[in-house]
Amino acid sequence: MARLTCFLALAFVIVFVGSSSAQLTTNFYEKSCPHLFPVVRDVVQSAIRKEARMGASLLRLHFHDCFVNGCDGSNLLDDTSSFKGEKSASPNFQSARGFEVIDQIKAAVERVCPGVVSCADILAVTARDSVVGLGGPTWDVKLGRRDARTANQAAANSSIPPASSSLSRLISSFQNQGLTIKDLVALYGGHSIGQARCTNFRAHIYNDSDINASFAKSLKANCPPKNGTGDNNLAPLDPQTPNKFDHIYFQGLVNKKAPLHSDQELTNGASTSSWIQKYSTNPSLFSSDFGTSMIKMGDIKPLTGSNGEIRKNCRRIN
Ligand code: HEM
Ligand SMILES: *[C@@H]1O[C@H](CO)[C@@H](O)[C@H](O)[C@H]1NC(C)=O
Ligand SMILES: *[C@@H]1O[C@H](CO)[C@@H](O)[C@H](O)[C@H]1NC(C)=O
Ligand SMILES: *[C@@H]1O[C@H](CO)[C@@H](O)[C@H](O)[C@H]1NC(C)=O
Ligand SMILES: *[C@@H]1O[C@H](CO)[C@@H](O)[C@H](O)[C@H]1NC(C)=O
Repeated sequence: MARLTCFLALAFVIVFVGSSSAQLTTNFYEKSCPHLFPVVRDVVQSAIRKEARMGASLLRLHFHDCFVNGCDGSNLLDDTSSFKGEKSASPNFQSARGFEVIDQIKAAVERVCPGVVSCADILAVTARDSVVGLGGPTWDVKLGRRDARTANQAAANSSIPPASSSLSRLISSFQNQGLTIKDLVALYGGHSIGQARCTNFRAHIYNDSDINASFAKSLKANCPPKNGTGDNNLAPLDPQTPNKFDHIYFQGLVNKKAPLHSDQELTNGASTSSWIQKYSTNPSLFSSDFGTSMIKMGDIKPLTGSNGEIRKNCRRIN
């Protein structure tokens, strides 16, 4: 009996000390900032009403935060004299957007509970509200993250895979974050909304064979073959329902109508393509798996306790 108790105590210590994410909770701000959720939701909704794509841009900011040294708001920091921020890292440069909306949300939250809610948590709640705002599923966001006091441009360059990635690179990049193949495919459903730039899909539409020819032709009209020409011209990641968060994106993958090489790569593996098949025909399975995997992604290496800080302005450390 004593031995069993000792074993259970040890197991408890391993589970709760071994994983810092165990400290995140859904009711973290229940007392300290009771109006957090409606305040964030209102700003997100009005931003989406102005421009539907903003919901996509805001969702992506949470992903680009979590994959670079954990969900710690590091990608929101502007450059300083002591570090180069992540905004000019290759996956973000001329691409990441929505920082002004995050500023608006942070200002609105600071008005109701100053100095309490981290920028990293604001990104997590904003990502959920963006998905909901574009017709997608909801989930209970875990909270209690604190903000980094530095950024890491080199890690942003290396941890967020580019559009040219092979399937094995995509899988290993998610595995490095503790995410499975199922998480990879479910989270890729984030590409149900938003836009990509010609520079990121040029090689795929001109040089790859695993793309529907008439679809490639339609994209070429707005993406000239020469590098450096029309680089920022846009095409929707989900050509059928670009402003609706739904499972239709996966039908595009099945039909070889994905603008990005990296997305079409997912159909080249037995286990990734079996998840794609399931999600393309089962919207409620996709919805619930997406929420589950977003919670897992949000658990990546948060700063908690006395680590980091609660930034007053998401663009700079206090
Ligand atoms: C390894 C996986 C991923 C790769 C290689 C990837 C790559 C890309 C690329 C190349 C773009 C277009 C950027 C541009 O042309 O400016 C993009 C956009 C986007 N990504 Fe991903 N992505 C990945 C995973 C994710 C995940 C996990 C999410 C969210 C759950 C996500 C959400 C988005 C959204 C919403 C956009 C559109 C943003 C906008 O319109 O402003 N991506 N992604
Ligand atoms: C990150 O990538 C960008 C764009 O390719 C490059 O200019 C920058 O020097 C890289 N930063 C680091 C720290 O490697
Ligand atoms: C396509 O591949 C050829 C041969 O490798 C290369 O010269 C060309 O620049 C590529 N075009 C694009 C748009 O990537
Ligand atoms: C490519 O897409 C077009 C237009 O949707 C469709 O008519 C055609 O059958 C597709 N081609 C292939 C090979 O599936
Ligand atoms: C254009 O850029 C692509 C991707 O960066 C590269 O593979 C290709 O070789 C480049 N083509 C030329 C002509 O520079």
